[in-house]
Amino acid sequence: MPLIKIHGMIDPHTHLRDLDWSHKATFASETKAAIAGGFWAVFDMPNTAPSTIDQDRLSDKLKRIDRDAHCDWGLYFGASQADNTAEYEKIARQVCGLKIYNNSTTGDLLINSSAMRERHYRAWTPNRLIAVHAEEETVRNILDLVRKYRQPTHFLHISSEYEINLLTQAKQDGLPVTVGVCPHHLILSEDDLPTLGAYGLMKPELKRKSDQRALWRAIRLGIVDIIESDHAPHAIAEKESDAPPYGVPGLETTLPLMLQAAKDGKLSLQKACDMLSLNVQRIWRIAPFPKTYALVDTDETYVIERENLMTKCGWSPFEGMRVRGKVREVWIRGTKVYDGENVLSPAGFGRNLFGYVA
Ligand code: NCD
Ligand code: ZN
Ligand code: ZN
Repeated sequence: MPLIKIHGMIDPHTHLRDLDWSHKATFASETKAAIAGGFWAVFDMPNTAPSTIDQDRLSDKLKRIDRDAHCDWGLYFGASQADNTAEYEKIARQVCGLKIYNNSTTGDLLINSSAMRERHYRAWTPNRLIAVHAEEETVRNILDLVRKYRQPTHFLHISSEYEINLLTQAKQDGLPVTVGVCPHHLILSEDDLPTLGAYGLMKPELKRKSDQRALWRAIRLGIVDIIESDHAPHAIAEKESDAPPYGVPGLETTLPLMLQAAKDGKLSLQKACDMLSLNVQRIWRIAPFPKTYALVDTDETYVIERENLMTKCGWSPFEGMRVRGKVREVWIRGTKVYDGENVLSPAGFGRNLFGYVA
């Protein structure tokens, strides 16, 4: 049985929901899903209800996730349209980064004025990075701010050839930028929309096959730094409604999809693992704790089925696909937290990787 050991897998782009959206998912349910997916830690986005845009809400969320998380974690602070930059020094010591939403998506955190974007870039502290939702032409606007303020910036869920070209140039120019790509943009395309319907809706939307090829090429060339799931669970009833929300879950499918891609010769096994662990650790500047790893059987293949998922939303856009790599065990800080079937760590086991909870 070819077991591989992956040290400290982190998914730095997840929407764990909870708080007023606990009908979609909870800190408990989704940190369990993370562990089942092989992850040590997950970073949660601020477009919750309520959104994480001031110290009180951040404190409240820190307490709740600290009480409920089964794996280690970090939280993003959200840049707000109503200027919330005053406490950035203090805020930065509690979070994994600042998130700026520059195009519309789930939640109400959109910042579309360039003056306001600039205000956040000027005020943020450079010892924690800025993660941006920026699509197409907006990538160019954000790059102008990176050039001016030199704040390390991670471009989330990059999905098109145009965006890849801009970021390739930015890297050649020596700007402090990193790039994340999601499995759904690598494996699904707009051709899958008729079959998937609302279950294939997410931001950025599924693109052309030519965009997909550009993403794979950029992975091989080292332009893409990491794979992130953008785990964004929504209830089945919401996806079946007349106005389905954008977002798809991914915590339990990311690793096996990438291992299957490695088997198919799309990238090396080493690179697939590094893009889910080492490269994420480098970008967020965290060293994994000793004895923190996943043991994965890369020979075992299986079909993705909703019955076998732990995420509270109970569906996946990848259902029916054959993938590779069964997570046999997960260990965090010397404790076995997953035995291949059940999550063994209790709620509250997980720690904040960025500061402590008072
Ligand atoms: C995300 C969500 O539902 O919170 N949706 C999505 O389609 N990706 C928000 C986001 O990442 O833009
Ligand atoms: Zn986004
Ligand atoms: Zn997201």
